Amino acid sequence: MTQSATSEARSDRSTVDTAQRTIRQYFDIEGERLLIGGVCAKDLAARFGTPLFAYDAAVVRRKVAEVRSTLSGRFSIFYSIKANPAAALLKLLISEGCGLEVASGGELKQALAAGCPPQMILFAGPGKSETELAAAIDARILEIHVESLDELEQINRLASNRGQEVSVALRVNPVDAAGGAMRMSGKPSQFGIDEECLDQAIDLTERLPNVRVSGVHIFMGTQILDAAILDEQYRRAVVIARRVAERTGPLRRIDFGGGWGTPYFAHENPLDLAAVADVIVSIDRLLAAEPLLSKAAAIIEPGRFLVNEAGVYLTEVIRIKESRGKRFAIIDGGMHHHLAASGNLGQTIKRNYPIAVVNRVGAALAGSTEIVGPLCTPLDTVGRNVALPALRNGDILGILLSGAYARSASPHGFLSHPSPPEVLVENGIASEIRARGAVEDFLRDQALEYENG
Ligand SMILES: Cc1ncc(COP(=O)(O)O)c(C=O)c1O
Repeated sequence: MTQSATSEARSDRSTVDTAQRTIRQYFDIEGERLLIGGVCAKDLAARFGTPLFAYDAAVVRRKVAEVRSTLSGRFSIFYSIKANPAAALLKLLISEGCGLEVASGGELKQALAAGCPPQMILFAGPGKSETELAAAIDARILEIHVESLDELEQINRLASNRGQEVSVALRVNPVDAAGGAMRMSGKPSQFGIDEECLDQAIDLTERLPNVRVSGVHIFMGTQILDAAILDEQYRRAVVIARRVAERTGPLRRIDFGGGWGTPYFAHENPLDLAAVADVIVSIDRLLAAEPLLSKAAAIIEPGRFLVNEAGVYLTEVIRIKESRGKRFAIIDGGMHHHLAASGNLGQTIKRNYPIAVVNRVGAALAGSTEIVGPLCTPLDTVGRNVALPALRNGDILGILLSGAYARSASPHGFLSHPSPPEVLVENGIASEIRARGAVEDFLRDQALEYENG
């Protein structure tokens, strides 16, 4: 077999299939053109330029509704803004009744700037600085999720200086973990207080007059697609909460974390929400039967599940190149805007995100293409051996499932390309919610007059 025939045989047809699956579920097609929120994706590219991120507001609203209908009245939703902190999305989610979970002083500022009431904000993270903790205390947010004994003492000191009492939840790193693509517990970790040290932590809180333990927080992993894993995790959280409450008295809140997944690849299926609803009912019953927990509010803090499917990264093919039997489509975007799609955001196996040619959805496939960005590294590959229609300069590719951990989790500074704009489409109207960066951004605040020696 020739080299190209071999790569043909291995070409990844699932990339287009998974794209079709996502499109069928969340978007429309007119002729052969993808519509995002009723607006032609190719027109968005023409109007706002490429590369860009486009989000469909109706999809976000639909995801909130799906989560809500899965939960009981005891539960509330705090959107984890690290998934995508665009102010317009935050406003949308706040208007849908979500609180916000933040993980830095910068995110806290964004949450407040988007109009989130402080009492609808939670703050977690293993390395909160003194300045960040002080900002959270001054803003009087709902609860700080404490990840170490040292942090407890620091919060007490800051609260005492201000004459305040601060509500904290103990984030617990359980002794065992249950599932999730990226496990964040059950092993030595910077996240949370080891379960074995809980008594020590509670002893300490008893000596700290300015902190009050109002809850517990357990977040065991992200990208969970199996309700049975959530069931195991949530039951574990209830056991831990009971143990804490036996020492502290009744808890006000139990935060069960985020982690609800979205299917990216052909072998992945969506989370079965009916099964999750059953989990919620059984957790509700468990809590109702525990005198120390029966009045506790329950929280989940999803990021990905609420916004991922709403987002499409649109990028233009700017050059087609053949090299030693392989076809490369060079695009004007890449891993500097969308690290996750290149498989470099912690993935152990690099698999292709769903990709569609948005101006020719459904066109006949014509062999295998490498889709690469403009950066000077082979890591900047967002499609490997992808079976696609024959690409031409000017085609617009849409990388689907780009609403979460895409723009916000990418190394924008690498190679100094302008950062991509964001567009929110609602009721057929597209609004630029973040402007494109400029090359001059990379010069700003630099000591241009600096002379060596
Ligand atoms: C503390 C905490 N909560 C919530 C989330 C959101 O996770 P996901 O997007 O998987 O729902 C994260 C993600 O890392 C997190 O660290």
